[in-house]
Amino acid sequence: MAEDSKPGSAQPERKVDRRAFFARLGLSSLGLAAAGTLSFSYQYMSPNVLYEPSPIVNAGSPEKYAMNSVTEDQVTGIYLIHLQEGFFSLSAICTHLGCMTAWRQDLGIIACPCHGSRFTRYGKKIAGPAPKPLPWYRTWLSDGGDIMVDRATVIPPMQFLRI
Ligand code: FES
Repeated sequence: MAEDSKPGSAQPERKVDRRAFFARLGLSSLGLAAAGTLSFSYQYMSPNVLYEPSPIVNAGSPEKYAMNSVTEDQVTGIYLIHLQEGFFSLSAICTHLGCMTAWRQDLGIIACPCHGSRFTRYGKKIAGPAPKPLPWYRTWLSDGGDIMVDRATVIPPMQFLRI
């Protein structure tokens, strides 16, 4: 005769424990599967959007820029230039392979350190492999009196902001 048939023995209690263990294991597995499904569903339903900084740059007050100055902003990749004709903004990114150019005060030109392209302060190419001039960006005065530059809008050259 088997021991588990005896009344008061510990064996039937162990069977219940095993049953409960497998029941909990099954429920836990279902819970994990449900959590994984919810997680992947959330990722699938979320928009796959790349958030980029605004192309609009607030260059500040016109008084910051002396007459006949070329001000380079490495962070935003623009030049803010103030000449007799007015203010304008150029891209500081070389049109050859995208290196950051630099204003050479001693030579009075914008130079690219990568392959030697050179540009006038109006962005016109004067030497090197760059295929195009530096683009002019739309530049305007905000209601608050600051110079604004839209890096996403290229305009034809020689359109000055006169203040
Ligand atoms: S990236 Fe400027 S000359 Fe090549």
